[in-house]
Amino acid sequence: MNDLPTAVPLEKAYRLLNHGPVTLITSAHGGTRNVMAASWVMPIDFFPLRLTAVIDVPTYTRELIDASGCFGVNLPRRALAQTTYDAGQSTGRGRDKIADLGLDTFQATTMPVPLLHGCAGWLECKLLDPQPTATDASLLVAQVTAAWADASMFRDGRWRPEAGIDTLHYVAGGVFFPTGAPFQVRTAPGSTELD
Ligand SMILES: Cc1cc2nc3c(=O)[nH]c(=O)nc-3n(C[C@H](O)[C@H](O)[C@H](O)COP(=O)(O)O)c2cc1C
Repeated sequence: MNDLPTAVPLEKAYRLLNHGPVTLITSAHGGTRNVMAASWVMPIDFFPLRLTAVIDVPTYTRELIDASGCFGVNLPRRALAQTTYDAGQSTGRGRDKIADLGLDTFQATTMPVPLLHGCAGWLECKLLDPQPTATDASLLVAQVTAAWADASMFRDGRWRPEAGIDTLHYVAGGVFFPTGAPFQVRTAPGSTELD
């Protein structure tokens, strides 16, 4: 894989998730590792950046996250669409799903989790302890401890549309939308949102 993960300042890292891309969640504990697809991942605070993720309790991913207190959020590019779907169809319990899917990994810097090549962005996440009160047991809240992006698509705190942004949005039944081309509307006077 020839992606080049480049550090994203944490105060700008919410922008990696603001358009709602589908994610691949990576996790590891006790010599095992795993990957699963997750659509329901979103920021809940700018800085320190916190996010929420719905990780269903019976998943192996959830077992590893609960044991390790951390996980990785990877933003797959279009070439990984089939892999993303497949990562969401069967459990990694009792096998190495990352290897079975042919995924290449590199190590996160602040958390003991693998990250996946072939993605547009990456967030390293630490579970908040204690978890803020949640009425749904599948809901996790985490703080982002480091963020990375492929510099050809996201740099200086912004997505770079000229490169083509091919993150993915999942609907159902194996159907994805690509992110597509951005467009600009008038911004509010004095807005610093894109500084
Ligand atoms: C595109 C896609 C998105 C998904 N999003 C979520 C999600 O947001 N939360 C969740 O708990 N499961 C989600 N799933 C289902 C899990 O990926 C699935 O249960 C997976 O097999 C769990 O794997 P594991 O047991 O190896 O952790 C999704 C599946 C697909 C195909």
